[in-house]
Amino acid sequence: MPSLPPTGPSAFPSPASSAPQGRAAVLCGLAGWVPPRVVTNEELSRRLDTSDTWIRTRTGIGQRHFVEPGQATSDMAVEAGRRALRSAGTDTVDAVVVATTTPDRPCPATAPVVAARLGLDGAAAFDVSAVCTGFVYGLASAAGLIAAGVAERVLLIGADTYSSIIDPDDRSNAIIFGDGAGAVVLRAGSPDEPGAVGHFDLGSDGSNEEMIMVAAGGSRQRTSPGEVSREDRHFSMRGREVFRHAVTRMAASARNTLALADRKAEDVDHFVPHQANLRILRSVAEDLGLPMDHCVSNVESVGNTGAASIPLALTDAAARGTIRPGDNVLLTAFGGGLTWGSCFLTWPALAQPGLPHDQGEELAS
Ligand code: UT7
Repeated sequence: MPSLPPTGPSAFPSPASSAPQGRAAVLCGLAGWVPPRVVTNEELSRRLDTSDTWIRTRTGIGQRHFVEPGQATSDMAVEAGRRALRSAGTDTVDAVVVATTTPDRPCPATAPVVAARLGLDGAAAFDVSAVCTGFVYGLASAAGLIAAGVAERVLLIGADTYSSIIDPDDRSNAIIFGDGAGAVVLRAGSPDEPGAVGHFDLGSDGSNEEMIMVAAGGSRQRTSPGEVSREDRHFSMRGREVFRHAVTRMAASARNTLALADRKAEDVDHFVPHQANLRILRSVAEDLGLPMDHCVSNVESVGNTGAASIPLALTDAAARGTIRPGDNVLLTAFGGGLTWGSCFLTWPALAQPGLPHDQGEELAS
């Protein structure tokens, strides 16, 4: 088995060390949304050579949510964004950032149409593409906009429609991924107040880009009618190798972030990792010496939702009252690229969000 590259501190300088003193991005709103359609393991087992037992044992996933035909990433992002703005008690932001692997179109970005549909016309709007690490990269980007004085308030949405890129006949991937969106609002504040995000560790390893990819549709392999194989059109992942990289990179990134924050694993009240696979979460928590009851997981009910996974897990935990003001929270993600990233924060007093699957109101049109 080839050994993994070294996992020392990332070459990427930590915004924590370069952020202007006295100005930080502070979490002030949180929400999530998953589409109503539930796809159970039993449903998948009826058309794929798999079983509820295999899926639960190997991944911890019991079900996932899929959008209806015709619904796209922006539809989910708008719903999560609207809820997050309500949670923050605001209807204005200076920037909208959408972290996604499944934009509505290759061009333009999805964030501007989301901003327009939320009545935020005129706000800066752009997408962040870092696959399942997208939310943490987006958090660092939003924090940078605020620290630099470019924005006072930012809406960051992680949203992915994996059902649009997964081959429904690929049993390895079709069982893992689900659709959803989670969002946070960040405002300018001080680095020492609860909710201040800082102490980031971000990294990448592009030499392993082929481990997780959609091969066709970009400038490298263009999409011409009749020329692209089914395999190249869909998401592919070398699951076993990715599993190994995920565990190593997430644990190393979490450690780097704790060191930057001058904290120890025992200071972490809630470890909120990207919900890739329950076995990955267990391995990372064990590596860090964290008991599993400190590890937040909603993978059983939503599967792996890519860039939406961390904000959805946070929303679920905050809605259930598991995460409370003053708790120390460590976020860690890993995804295609390869990419990884972590962030440490102390939880602020927030309006309690609803559960992501509570529909409450119609999907915004
Ligand atoms: O979110 C971005 C990062 N993504 C991840 O971190 C995901 C990382 N990878 C994983 O979660 C796991 O590797 C998978 C869930 C994708 C696969 O689990 P695994 O335990 O690594 O299984 P495997 O790929 O090593 O396959 C073991 C066996 C194989 O059969 P043989 O060759 O041993 O006969 C597979 O063909 O399981 C078979 N298999 C299945 N069997 C029933 C693969 N998928 C299925 C399935 N149902 N759905």
